[in-house]
Amino acid sequence: MTEQTDNNVLSPDTDGPLLQVHGLDVTYGRSRMRGGDVKAVRGVDLTMGRGETVGLVGESGSGKSTIGSAVLGLVPTTGGTITFDGVDITHSTRADRRLLARRMQVVFQDPYGSMNPAHTIGDTLAEALRYNLGLSGDEIRERVLRALDDVGLPPGAARRYPAAFSGGQRQRIAIARALVMEPEFVVCDEAVSALDLSVQAQVLNLLARLKQTRGLSYLFISHDLSVVRYLSNTIVVLYAGRVVERGPAALVADSPAHPYTRALLASAPVPDPVAQRLRQAERRLAAAATPATGRVSEGCAFAPRCPFAQETCWSTQPELVEHDGVAVACHRRDEIAAGAALPGHATAGAA
Ligand SMILES: Nc1ncnc2c1ncn2[C@@H]1O[C@H](COP(=O)(O)OP(=O)(O)O)[C@@H](O)[C@H]1O
Ligand SMILES: [Mg+2]
Repeated sequence: MTEQTDNNVLSPDTDGPLLQVHGLDVTYGRSRMRGGDVKAVRGVDLTMGRGETVGLVGESGSGKSTIGSAVLGLVPTTGGTITFDGVDITHSTRADRRLLARRMQVVFQDPYGSMNPAHTIGDTLAEALRYNLGLSGDEIRERVLRALDDVGLPPGAARRYPAAFSGGQRQRIAIARALVMEPEFVVCDEAVSALDLSVQAQVLNLLARLKQTRGLSYLFISHDLSVVRYLSNTIVVLYAGRVVERGPAALVADSPAHPYTRALLASAPVPDPVAQRLRQAERRLAAAATPATGRVSEGCAFAPRCPFAQETCWSTQPELVEHDGVAVACHRRDEIAAGAALPGHATAGAA
Protein backbone atom coordinates (compact mmCIF):
# COMPACT_ATOMS: atom_id res chain seq x y z
CA MET A 1 0.00 0.00 0.00
CA THR A 2 1.31 3.44 -0.85
CA GLU A 3 0.88 6.09 1.81
CA GLN A 4 -0.26 9.52 0.69
CA THR A 5 2.06 11.81 2.58
CA ASP A 6 1.16 15.23 1.25
CA ASN A 7 -1.67 16.34 3.46
CA ASN A 8 -3.75 18.26 0.96
CA VAL A 9 -7.39 17.60 1.73
CA LEU A 10 -8.41 18.75 -1.73
CA SER A 11 -6.14 16.36 -3.62
CA PRO A 12 -8.09 13.29 -4.66
CA ASP A 13 -6.69 9.80 -4.37
CA THR A 14 -9.19 8.14 -6.66
CA ASP A 15 -7.88 4.59 -6.18
CA GLY A 16 -8.73 3.93 -2.55
CA PRO A 17 -12.01 4.09 -0.63
CA LEU A 18 -13.62 7.50 -0.12
CA LEU A 19 -13.91 7.13 3.63
CA GLN A 20 -12.15 4.79 5.98
CA VAL A 21 -12.73 4.77 9.72
CA HIS A 22 -10.41 2.55 11.67
CA GLY A 23 -10.58 1.69 15.37
CA LEU A 24 -12.51 4.87 16.16
CA ASP A 25 -12.93 5.69 19.84
CA VAL A 26 -14.81 8.71 21.13
CA THR A 27 -15.10 9.31 24.86
CA TYR A 28 -17.00 12.30 26.19
CA GLY A 29 -15.50 13.85 29.27
CA ARG A 30 -16.96 13.63 32.76
CA SER A 31 -20.47 14.95 32.82
CA ARG A 32 -22.03 16.17 36.04
CA MET A 33 -25.35 14.62 35.04
CA ARG A 34 -24.05 11.13 34.33
CA GLY A 35 -21.17 11.20 36.78
CA GLY A 36 -18.45 9.73 34.56
CA ASP A 37 -16.87 9.43 31.16
CA VAL A 38 -19.13 8.23 28.37
CA LYS A 39 -17.44 5.82 25.98
CA ALA A 40 -19.79 6.71 23.13
CA VAL A 41 -17.89 4.91 20.35
CA ARG A 42 -15.48 2.00 20.75
CA GLY A 43 -13.21 0.53 18.11
CA VAL A 44 -15.49 1.24 15.15
CA ASP A 45 -14.27 0.27 11.67
CA LEU A 46 -16.04 1.13 8.46
CA THR A 47 -15.13 1.60 4.82
CA MET A 48 -17.06 3.47 2.16
CA GLY A 49 -16.43 3.38 -1.56
CA ARG A 50 -17.15 6.25 -3.96
CA GLY A 51 -20.84 6.64 -4.79
CA GLU A 52 -21.67 4.21 -2.02
CA THR A 53 -24.07 4.68 0.87
CA VAL A 54 -23.21 3.26 4.27
CA GLY A 55 -26.14 3.11 6.66
CA LEU A 56 -25.54 3.43 10.39
CA VAL A 57 -28.37 2.02 12.46
CA GLY A 58 -28.95 1.46 16.15
CA GLU A 59 -31.23 2.70 18.90
CA SER A 60 -30.92 6.13 20.47
CA GLY A 61 -27.61 6.53 22.31
CA SER A 62 -25.79 3.81 20.35
CA GLY A 63 -23.20 6.28 19.03
CA LYS A 64 -24.45 6.98 15.50
CA SER A 65 -24.33 10.78 15.65
CA THR A 66 -20.99 10.65 17.43
CA ILE A 67 -19.46 8.75 14.50
CA GLY A 68 -20.95 11.25 12.02
CA SER A 69 -19.68 14.17 14.11
CA ALA A 70 -16.20 12.65 14.39
CA VAL A 71 -16.00 12.25 10.61
CA LEU A 72 -17.09 15.88 10.19
CA GLY A 73 -14.51 17.02 12.76
CA LEU A 74 -17.19 18.27 15.16
CA VAL A 75 -16.08 16.12 18.10
CA PRO A 76 -12.51 15.17 19.04
CA THR A 77 -11.60 11.51 18.74
CA THR A 78 -9.86 9.63 21.55
CA GLY A 79 -8.49 6.83 19.36
CA GLY A 80 -8.33 5.46 15.85
CA THR A 81 -8.07 7.14 12.47
CA ILE A 82 -10.40 8.72 9.93
CA THR A 83 -9.12 8.78 6.35
CA PHE A 84 -10.94 10.70 3.63
CA ASP A 85 -9.89 10.09 0.05
CA GLY A 86 -6.48 8.83 1.17
CA VAL A 87 -5.77 11.72 3.56
CA ASP A 88 -5.73 11.26 7.33
CA ILE A 89 -8.20 13.87 8.63
CA THR A 90 -8.40 12.55 12.21
CA HIS A 91 -6.78 15.67 13.64
CA SER A 92 -7.30 18.10 10.79
CA THR A 93 -6.89 21.79 11.44
CA ARG A 94 -9.61 24.41 11.20
CA ALA A 95 -8.18 25.55 7.88
CA ASP A 96 -8.33 22.00 6.52
CA ARG A 97 -11.91 21.66 7.74
CA ARG A 98 -12.89 24.80 5.83
CA LEU A 99 -11.45 23.23 2.70
CA LEU A 100 -13.11 19.91 3.52
CA ALA A 101 -16.49 21.65 3.68
CA ARG A 102 -16.32 21.75 -0.13
CA ARG A 103 -16.26 17.97 -0.12
CA MET A 104 -18.24 16.89 2.97
CA GLN A 105 -21.55 18.28 4.10
CA VAL A 106 -24.26 17.33 6.59
CA VAL A 107 -28.05 17.24 6.74
CA PHE A 108 -29.59 17.05 10.22
CA GLN A 109 -33.02 16.07 11.47
CA ASP A 110 -34.19 19.51 12.48
CA PRO A 111 -33.28 22.02 9.78
CA TYR A 112 -35.56 24.69 11.28
CA GLY A 113 -33.37 24.80 14.38
CA SER A 114 -30.32 25.64 12.27
CA MET A 115 -31.97 28.21 9.99
CA ASN A 116 -32.17 31.87 10.89
CA PRO A 117 -35.91 32.71 10.67
CA ALA A 118 -35.03 36.29 9.69
CA HIS A 119 -32.97 35.21 6.66
CA THR A 120 -34.47 34.29 3.30
CA ILE A 121 -33.79 30.81 1.95
CA GLY A 122 -31.58 32.38 -0.71
CA ASP A 123 -29.44 34.08 1.94
CA THR A 124 -29.29 30.90 4.03
CA LEU A 125 -28.02 28.89 1.06
CA ALA A 126 -25.61 31.60 -0.07
CA GLU A 127 -24.09 32.00 3.39
CA ALA A 128 -21.90 28.88 3.28
CA LEU A 129 -20.69 29.80 -0.19
CA ARG A 130 -19.68 33.33 0.80
CA TYR A 131 -17.52 32.04 3.63
CA ASN A 132 -15.99 29.09 1.88
CA LEU A 133 -15.47 29.98 -1.75
CA GLY A 134 -14.44 33.09 -3.62
CA LEU A 135 -17.44 33.01 -5.95
CA SER A 136 -18.97 36.04 -7.68
CA GLY A 137 -22.53 37.15 -6.92
CA ASP A 138 -23.73 35.68 -10.21
CA GLU A 139 -22.05 32.35 -9.52
CA ILE A 140 -23.58 32.22 -6.04
CA ARG A 141 -27.04 32.99 -7.47
CA GLU A 142 -26.61 30.28 -10.07
CA ARG A 143 -25.57 27.66 -7.53
CA VAL A 144 -28.43 28.53 -5.18
CA LEU A 145 -31.04 28.26 -7.96
CA ARG A 146 -29.55 25.02 -9.22
CA ALA A 147 -29.60 23.51 -5.72
CA LEU A 148 -33.24 24.57 -5.21
CA ASP A 149 -34.15 23.07 -8.58
CA ASP A 150 -32.31 19.85 -7.69
CA VAL A 151 -34.45 19.42 -4.56
CA GLY A 152 -37.70 20.21 -6.39
CA LEU A 153 -38.29 23.77 -5.16
CA PRO A 154 -39.15 26.71 -7.45
CA PRO A 155 -36.70 29.63 -7.86
CA GLY A 156 -39.15 31.84 -5.95
CA ALA A 157 -38.39 29.84 -2.79
CA ALA A 158 -35.13 31.80 -2.51
CA ARG A 159 -37.04 34.99 -1.62
CA ARG A 160 -39.15 33.41 1.10
CA TYR A 161 -38.48 32.76 4.81
CA PRO A 162 -38.18 29.38 6.60
CA ALA A 163 -41.58 29.78 8.32
CA ALA A 164 -43.32 29.71 4.92
CA PHE A 165 -42.37 26.07 4.34
CA SER A 166 -43.64 22.70 5.56
CA GLY A 167 -41.41 20.21 7.39
CA GLY A 168 -40.75 18.25 4.21
CA GLN A 169 -39.93 21.41 2.25
CA ARG A 170 -37.59 22.59 4.98
CA GLN A 171 -35.79 19.25 4.81
CA ARG A 172 -35.42 19.82 1.05
CA ILE A 173 -33.96 23.25 1.81
CA ALA A 174 -31.49 21.66 4.23
CA ILE A 175 -30.45 19.27 1.46
CA ALA A 176 -30.12 22.21 -0.95
CA ARG A 177 -27.93 23.97 1.61
CA ALA A 178 -25.60 20.96 1.58
CA LEU A 179 -25.70 20.77 -2.23
CA VAL A 180 -24.62 24.36 -2.94
CA MET A 181 -21.13 23.38 -1.85
CA GLU A 182 -21.19 20.63 -4.50
CA PRO A 183 -19.87 18.01 -2.08
CA GLU A 184 -19.03 14.38 -2.84
CA PHE A 185 -19.93 13.12 0.61
CA VAL A 186 -22.93 13.93 2.80
CA VAL A 187 -23.68 12.80 6.34
CA CYS A 188 -27.47 12.46 6.72
CA ASP A 189 -28.17 12.29 10.46
CA GLU A 190 -31.81 11.24 11.02
CA ALA A 191 -32.54 13.45 8.00
CA VAL A 192 -36.02 12.00 7.43
CA SER A 193 -36.86 10.88 10.98
CA ALA A 194 -39.14 13.80 11.87
CA LEU A 195 -41.26 13.49 8.72
CA ASP A 196 -44.59 11.75 8.12
CA LEU A 197 -44.23 8.43 6.31
CA SER A 198 -45.41 9.72 2.90
CA VAL A 199 -43.15 12.79 3.05
CA GLN A 200 -40.33 10.59 4.33
CA ALA A 201 -40.65 8.43 1.21
CA GLN A 202 -40.49 11.51 -1.04
CA VAL A 203 -37.34 12.81 0.63
CA LEU A 204 -35.74 9.34 0.50
CA ASN A 205 -36.52 9.21 -3.22
CA LEU A 206 -34.97 12.64 -3.64
CA LEU A 207 -31.79 11.53 -1.83
CA ALA A 208 -31.63 8.40 -3.99
CA ARG A 209 -31.97 10.50 -7.16
CA LEU A 210 -29.30 12.98 -6.02
CA LYS A 211 -26.97 10.09 -5.31
CA GLN A 212 -27.23 9.20 -9.01
CA THR A 213 -27.28 12.66 -10.60
CA ARG A 214 -24.65 14.27 -8.35
CA GLY A 215 -22.60 11.14 -7.70
CA LEU A 216 -22.95 11.53 -3.94
CA SER A 217 -21.83 9.16 -1.21
CA TYR A 218 -23.87 9.16 1.99
CA LEU A 219 -23.14 8.20 5.54
CA PHE A 220 -26.80 7.64 6.27
CA ILE A 221 -27.74 7.60 9.95
CA SER A 222 -31.12 6.46 11.26
CA HIS A 223 -32.59 4.49 14.14
CA ASP A 224 -35.00 2.95 11.60
CA LEU A 225 -33.68 -0.16 9.86
CA SER A 226 -36.21 0.02 7.00
CA VAL A 227 -35.21 3.62 6.19
CA VAL A 228 -31.52 2.69 6.23
CA ARG A 229 -32.22 -0.36 4.08
CA TYR A 230 -33.81 1.78 1.36
CA LEU A 231 -30.68 3.81 0.54
CA SER A 232 -27.72 1.79 1.76
CA ASN A 233 -25.28 -0.50 0.01
CA THR A 234 -23.72 -1.47 3.32
CA ILE A 235 -25.36 -1.45 6.74
CA VAL A 236 -23.46 -1.07 9.98
CA VAL A 237 -25.39 -1.94 13.14
CA LEU A 238 -24.26 -0.29 16.37
CA TYR A 239 -25.00 -1.32 19.90
CA ALA A 240 -23.57 0.60 22.86
CA GLY A 241 -20.92 2.23 20.67
CA ARG A 242 -19.67 -0.96 19.02
CA VAL A 243 -20.32 -2.52 15.64
CA VAL A 244 -22.32 -5.71 16.21
CA GLU A 245 -23.12 -6.46 12.55
CA ARG A 246 -21.86 -5.11 9.22
CA GLY A 247 -22.48 -6.26 5.68
CA PRO A 248 -24.41 -5.84 2.42
CA ALA A 249 -27.71 -4.05 3.10
CA ALA A 250 -29.96 -6.80 1.77
CA LEU A 251 -28.32 -9.46 3.94
CA VAL A 252 -28.17 -7.43 7.14
CA ALA A 253 -31.68 -5.97 6.88
CA ASP A 254 -33.56 -8.97 5.51
CA SER A 255 -31.83 -11.87 7.25
CA PRO A 256 -30.00 -10.41 10.21
CA ALA A 257 -27.56 -12.61 12.10
CA HIS A 258 -27.03 -10.70 15.35
CA PRO A 259 -29.81 -11.00 17.95
CA TYR A 260 -29.82 -7.21 18.29
CA THR A 261 -30.33 -6.67 14.55
CA ARG A 262 -33.08 -9.27 14.71
CA ALA A 263 -34.73 -7.27 17.48
CA LEU A 264 -34.43 -4.07 15.40
CA LEU A 265 -36.11 -5.81 12.48
CA ALA A 266 -38.82 -7.15 14.77
CA SER A 267 -39.53 -3.68 16.14
CA ALA A 268 -39.86 -2.06 12.71
CA PRO A 269 -43.46 -1.39 11.70
CA VAL A 270 -44.53 -3.68 8.85
CA PRO A 271 -47.53 -3.02 6.61
CA ASP A 272 -48.57 -6.69 6.40
CA PRO A 273 -50.80 -7.50 9.41
CA VAL A 274 -49.83 -11.19 9.47
CA ALA A 275 -46.13 -10.36 9.46
CA GLN A 276 -46.88 -7.73 12.09
CA ARG A 277 -48.50 -10.31 14.39
CA LEU A 278 -45.62 -12.72 13.89
CA ARG A 279 -43.14 -10.07 14.86
CA GLN A 280 -45.13 -9.06 17.90
CA ALA A 281 -45.11 -12.69 19.01
CA GLU A 282 -41.37 -12.89 18.44
CA ARG A 283 -40.93 -9.71 20.44
CA ARG A 284 -42.98 -11.02 23.39
CA LEU A 285 -40.97 -14.20 23.28
CA ALA A 286 -37.69 -12.32 23.34
CA ALA A 287 -38.89 -10.13 26.20
CA ALA A 288 -40.00 -13.17 28.21
CA ALA A 289 -36.69 -14.92 27.63
CA THR A 290 -34.63 -11.93 28.73
CA PRO A 291 -33.49 -12.34 32.33
CA ALA A 292 -34.71 -9.42 34.40
CA THR A 293 -31.65 -9.37 36.64
CA GLY A 294 -29.63 -6.25 37.33
CA ARG A 295 -26.47 -8.12 36.39
CA VAL A 296 -23.83 -6.16 34.48
CA SER A 297 -22.19 -7.87 31.53
CA GLU A 298 -18.42 -7.92 31.36
CA GLY A 299 -18.65 -9.45 27.90
CA CYS A 300 -21.23 -8.63 25.25
CA ALA A 301 -23.08 -5.41 26.06
CA PHE A 302 -26.28 -6.89 24.62
CA ALA A 303 -26.21 -9.95 26.93
CA PRO A 304 -28.65 -8.50 29.51
CA ARG A 305 -31.27 -8.09 26.78
CA CYS A 306 -30.38 -11.07 24.63
CA PRO A 307 -32.69 -14.08 24.55
CA PHE A 308 -29.74 -16.26 23.46
CA ALA A 309 -27.19 -15.13 26.07
CA GLN A 310 -25.10 -17.82 27.75
CA GLU A 311 -22.31 -17.62 30.33
CA THR A 312 -19.59 -16.85 27.71
CA CYS A 313 -21.64 -13.91 26.46
CA TRP A 314 -21.63 -12.35 29.94
CA SER A 315 -17.92 -12.91 30.51
CA THR A 316 -16.20 -12.39 27.15
CA GLN A 317 -16.47 -9.58 24.61
CA PRO A 318 -17.28 -11.20 21.23
CA GLU A 319 -14.98 -10.32 18.32
CA LEU A 320 -16.40 -9.04 15.05
CA VAL A 321 -15.90 -12.01 12.73
CA GLU A 322 -16.56 -11.91 8.99
CA HIS A 323 -18.23 -14.89 7.36
CA ASP A 324 -19.77 -14.92 3.87
CA GLY A 325 -19.33 -11.15 3.62
CA VAL A 326 -21.15 -10.31 6.85
CA ALA A 327 -19.23 -9.41 10.00
CA VAL A 328 -21.00 -10.27 13.25
CA ALA A 329 -19.93 -9.95 16.88
CA CYS A 330 -21.83 -12.78 18.55
CA HIS A 331 -20.55 -15.91 20.32
CA ARG A 332 -23.66 -17.83 19.28
CA ARG A 333 -23.92 -16.74 15.65
CA ASP A 334 -23.65 -20.22 14.17
CA GLU A 335 -26.07 -21.82 16.62
CA ILE A 336 -28.62 -19.05 16.11
CA ALA A 337 -28.28 -19.38 12.32
CA ALA A 338 -28.86 -23.13 12.72
CA GLY A 339 -32.11 -22.36 14.55
CA ALA A 340 -31.09 -22.41 18.20
CA ALA A 341 -34.14 -22.41 20.44
CA LEU A 342 -34.63 -19.63 22.94
CA PRO A 343 -33.66 -21.01 26.38
CA GLY A 344 -36.70 -22.35 28.17
CA HIS A 345 -38.98 -21.46 25.27
CA ALA A 346 -38.40 -24.34 22.90
CA THR A 347 -42.12 -24.83 22.28
CA ALA A 348 -43.37 -21.32 23.04
CA GLY A 349 -44.20 -20.78 19.38
CA ALA A 350 -47.33 -22.88 19.92
CA ALA A 351 -48.61 -20.58 22.67
N1 LIG B 1 -21.83 16.11 24.01
C1 LIG B 1 -21.95 15.00 24.74
N2 LIG B 1 -21.47 14.94 26.01
C2 LIG B 1 -21.57 13.81 26.75
N3 LIG B 1 -22.15 12.68 26.31
C3 LIG B 1 -22.65 12.68 25.06
C4 LIG B 1 -22.58 13.82 24.21
N4 LIG B 1 -23.17 13.52 23.02
C5 LIG B 1 -23.58 12.24 23.13
N5 LIG B 1 -23.28 11.72 24.33
C6 LIG B 1 -23.52 10.35 24.79
O1 LIG B 1 -22.84 9.47 23.91
C7 LIG B 1 -23.63 8.32 23.63
C8 LIG B 1 -23.89 8.23 22.13
O2 LIG B 1 -24.67 9.33 21.72
P1 LIG B 1 -25.05 9.62 20.21
O3 LIG B 1 -23.84 9.49 19.36
O4 LIG B 1 -25.78 10.90 20.17
O5 LIG B 1 -26.04 8.39 19.89
P2 LIG B 1 -27.16 8.25 18.77
O6 LIG B 1 -26.92 9.26 17.70
O7 LIG B 1 -27.00 6.84 18.29
O8 LIG B 1 -28.48 8.45 19.45
C9 LIG B 1 -24.90 8.47 24.46
O9 LIG B 1 -24.69 7.78 25.67
C10 LIG B 1 -24.99 9.96 24.70
O10 LIG B 1 -25.67 10.24 25.90
MG1 LIG C 1 -28.22 10.75 16.97
